[in-house]
Amino acid sequence: MLPLKRRKVSSANSGASASHSRDEACKFPQVVLYLLERKMGTSRRSFLTELGRGKGFRVDENFTESVTHVISEKNSSDEVRRWLSSRGHHATPVHLLDVSWFTESLSEGRPVDILSSHRLTDEQPQLESGGEQMATFSLPVYACQRRTGLNHHNEVFTDALSLLAENAELCQDEGRALAFRRAAAALKALPEPVTDVRRLRGCPCLGQRSLAVIQDILENGTSQEAESTRRCERYRAMKLLTGIFGVGAKTADLWFREGVRNLPQLRRSGRILNRAQRAGVAHYDDLMRGVTRAEAHAVVQIAREAAVAELPGAQLTLAGGFRRGKPSGHDVDLLITHPQEGLEEGLIPKMVARLEAQDFLLYHKSSKKSNSGSSGASSMDGFERCLCIFKLPEPDDGGLWRAIRVDLTVVPAGQSAFALLGWTGSKLFERELRRWASREKNMSLSSHALYDNRQGEYLEAATEEEIFAHLSLEYVPPTERNA
Ligand code: UTP
Ligand code: MN
Repeated sequence: MLPLKRRKVSSANSGASASHSRDEACKFPQVVLYLLERKMGTSRRSFLTELGRGKGFRVDENFTESVTHVISEKNSSDEVRRWLSSRGHHATPVHLLDVSWFTESLSEGRPVDILSSHRLTDEQPQLESGGEQMATFSLPVYACQRRTGLNHHNEVFTDALSLLAENAELCQDEGRALAFRRAAAALKALPEPVTDVRRLRGCPCLGQRSLAVIQDILENGTSQEAESTRRCERYRAMKLLTGIFGVGAKTADLWFREGVRNLPQLRRSGRILNRAQRAGVAHYDDLMRGVTRAEAHAVVQIAREAAVAELPGAQLTLAGGFRRGKPSGHDVDLLITHPQEGLEEGLIPKMVARLEAQDFLLYHKSSKKSNSGSSGASSMDGFERCLCIFKLPEPDDGGLWRAIRVDLTVVPAGQSAFALLGWTGSKLFERELRRWASREKNMSLSSHALYDNRQGEYLEAATEEEIFAHLSLEYVPPTERNA
C-alpha cells in the first residue's frame, strides 16, 4: 500500500508541546504511550486513553518520535509498521505491544514488565509451505461491513456452528451463542471453501471453540460436538417445545425438567397453557412447515386490502427473510406506513377487526405504541404491532386453509427507513450494525432512529442508503445481509 500522505514529524518539540500540560500529572516519564486506533475503534481508544491518563500514564494523542510504546489490538507488528509508515512515520518506536500489556499495567497501576507474550508478533510468512494457497483469508471485522449472499461455500461448517449456536440459545447461554453465530457468519462471507484451518488465522470472530469444530470437520468429515448435540435428548426436546408458538427457552426448560419431551406428553400433562400457546399447539404442524414466497405474497395481498380499506394510501412492505431473498421463512414480517405521518395511528385495531370479520385470523395479540415518548433510541418495541396467526385459504380453495405466522408493524413515515433496516435482518446483521454504530461511531441505532451521542442529536434518514452513509458504511443491499 502506498502512503497516502507523508507528513514529516518535526523533531521532539511537537511531542513535548502535545503533552506539556500532562507532564505534571504523569507518573512514569520514561513511558510515552500511543494507542493505535486501527481495529481498536475510536470509542474504545478514547476510553482506554482516559483510563490510562487517570492512572498517571502519559498517553499521546498523536504519534511522534517521543512515543516509546505503541499499543494496538489485533494487529501484527507488520500491520502496525505499515500503518505508521503510511502516515509518514518511519522511525520505529521502542516497543510494539498488544493491548494486554496496557490493561495489565492499568490494573497494576504501573507499567508492568514486558513479556514476550505482550510483544506483537510478525505475520506468518505467507510464502512458506505452499505459497498463495496458504495465504490467510482477510475479512472485515463487522458483519455489516461484509456482503453475505444466501449461498456460500462453507455450509458443512456453518450448519454445525449454527446448530451449536442454537443449542447455546436453548441453554440461554447468549455469549456462546453469539460466538458461534459470528463464526458462522464469517465463514459465510469467505470467497471459497475452507480446506485448511491455517488459512483462518487472524480471521475475525473465529474463537478457539469454533476453530476446533472446523478442524474436526476437516479431519473427520463431521463435528463430534455438533453430532452429539443433535442426538442429545435435551436439545431435541427443547427444539420441539420452543417450536411451539408462544413457548420460549425458559418455559421449555421448565417443562423439560418436569419430564415433558413432546406434544402428546404436553397435552397429557394437563398443564394450563396461555392463549398463544394453545394456538401454537393447535396449529403446530402448519406453523412448523415454513412459509413459501407465494404464500407470503398471498398474505401481503390480504393485509394490503385490509390496510387500504381502513386507511387509503397505506403502504405495505414485506421485510424479514423474504426481503433478503430467502425462498421460505418461518413467518411473514410486514411493515405498514402512510406517507402522511400521523394518519397511521390506530390502524392496527381497525385492520384486525376487519381481518377478523373476514375470518382471516386464527390468533392475534396487539401491542400498543409505548406512549411514554421517551422510549429512547435503544427501544425496539415502540411500534404499534400485532402478532397474528393468519388463516390462509389454499389457492384451489375447496375450503382448505393453512395457518401462517404474521407479524404486522405500523411505522410512522419519519421512522420507516429505520424500521425497514431493522426488520430486514438478519438478526446477526442487525446486531453487528448496532455494535458498529456504538463502538466505532459513538451512535445508537434502533428500529426507530439513529442518535449521535457526540453531537447530541438525532440523524434523520429517508432511505436505508442514508443510514449506511451516516454510519460511514458502504451500502449493503438486502440480499447481501444474510450474515
Ligand atoms: P425474524 O425472526 O422473522 O427473522 O425477524 P427472519 O430473518 O425473517 O427469519 P425467518 O425467515 O422468518 O425465519 C425478522 C427481522 O425483524 C427483526 C429481527 O431483528 C429480524 O431482523 N425484529 C423481529 C425486530 O426487530 N423486533 C422484533 O420484535 C422482531
Ligand atoms: Mn421472518
